Amino acid sequence: MTSLQNDLFLRALLKQPVERTPLWMMRQAGRYLPEYRATRAKAGSFMQLCTNPELACEVTLQPLDRYRFDAAILFSDILTVPDAMGLGLSFAEGEGPQFARPVRSAADVARLPIPDPETELRYVMDAVRLIKTNLHGRVPLIGFSGSPWTLATYMVEGGGSKNFQKVKGLMFEQPALMHQLLDKTAQAVAAYLNAQIAAGADAVMVFDTWGGALSHADYLEFSLSYAQRVRQALNTQYDGRTIPTILFTKGGGLWLEAMADTGYDALGLDWQTDIGQARIRVGDKVALQGNMDPLTLYAPPAVIREKVGKVLQGYGQGSGHVFNLGHGILPDIDPAHVAAMVDAVHELSPHYHR
Ligand code: CP3
Repeated sequence: MTSLQNDLFLRALLKQPVERTPLWMMRQAGRYLPEYRATRAKAGSFMQLCTNPELACEVTLQPLDRYRFDAAILFSDILTVPDAMGLGLSFAEGEGPQFARPVRSAADVARLPIPDPETELRYVMDAVRLIKTNLHGRVPLIGFSGSPWTLATYMVEGGGSKNFQKVKGLMFEQPALMHQLLDKTAQAVAAYLNAQIAAGADAVMVFDTWGGALSHADYLEFSLSYAQRVRQALNTQYDGRTIPTILFTKGGGLWLEAMADTGYDALGLDWQTDIGQARIRVGDKVALQGNMDPLTLYAPPAVIREKVGKVLQGYGQGSGHVFNLGHGILPDIDPAHVAAMVDAVHELSPHYHR
């Protein structure tokens, strides 16, 4: 049962029949939209935008007013959780995220609290509730978190990183401590996602942006097992609703079989992965989300349409596909090119559901 006017996205994630392929876009609320830049200027900074539920709600809805997307995604950031764990997040202009108090020692790990989402992350839950109210059931709302591994990379590095020297140093030299950090982070992530579900999120997605930086064995031990632990702790039956779950590992194309066995309903695919091959490899276990190269959106509309067609054809006939980019949209994309992608999915996809 759903009170949603458009539940194509939820049905596709659960591999139930749909009339056409639903779509949304990673980073759909963001700097490529002039109205986003205006609201962000009004907020003063990215973090002030994230922590203000009214403004976070405003930017969440902006892309839906422009494009026929089939889902909204909560406007927030994956780094709100480590911030609530006391690390002190800031975004220096043009330099990306930074933590004032990175995690480096056993004492640092022991000191980390598991935040209560309705207290320390109350602003996120208030945003979820406000967005749900203002969506009026138009489309489902996606809640999200970073994966334990991806959050740990930022927590140990103290910000973005090229080769993950510090976090891999910790992993190789003190694996037991790394496991303690991941265990705490997984508890924090599960509590955070369950609170988003309780606040009204209709589906949840785990972003494992840096899982692909690991070797095969380390991916299974330090990334996937904790993503699986999060999945096992999620309240996916809530208040009469089934909450579909999505796991996205950037660079995860090598590990799709293992990812498909973790209990997530769908896997996000980056653009390097062939979606048709991926479908064969995962079989009936999961739906797939993705995976047009985000750089395609620089190309002229006719090329965008052709590439959308290739992704739809790659997945082929039947339900279980949510169209998306293989990673987030870049800030200098022309909004008209996004419209070309959306129109192409609407026009070309019904063919695959007859
Ligand atoms: O998809 C959406 O529209 C929802 C919002 C969302 C944001 N970040 C908004 C944002 C989501 C889901 C994220 C996730 C996120 N944040 C990830 C995982 C992303 C993935 O695709 O794998 C990561 C690694 C982060 C951490 C982070 N936040 C980085 C590296 C940056 C870029 C810093 C910079 O200066 O470019 C951010 C900032 C951020 N998060 C922006 C947005 C719209 C840009 C901030 C701005 O307005 O300046």
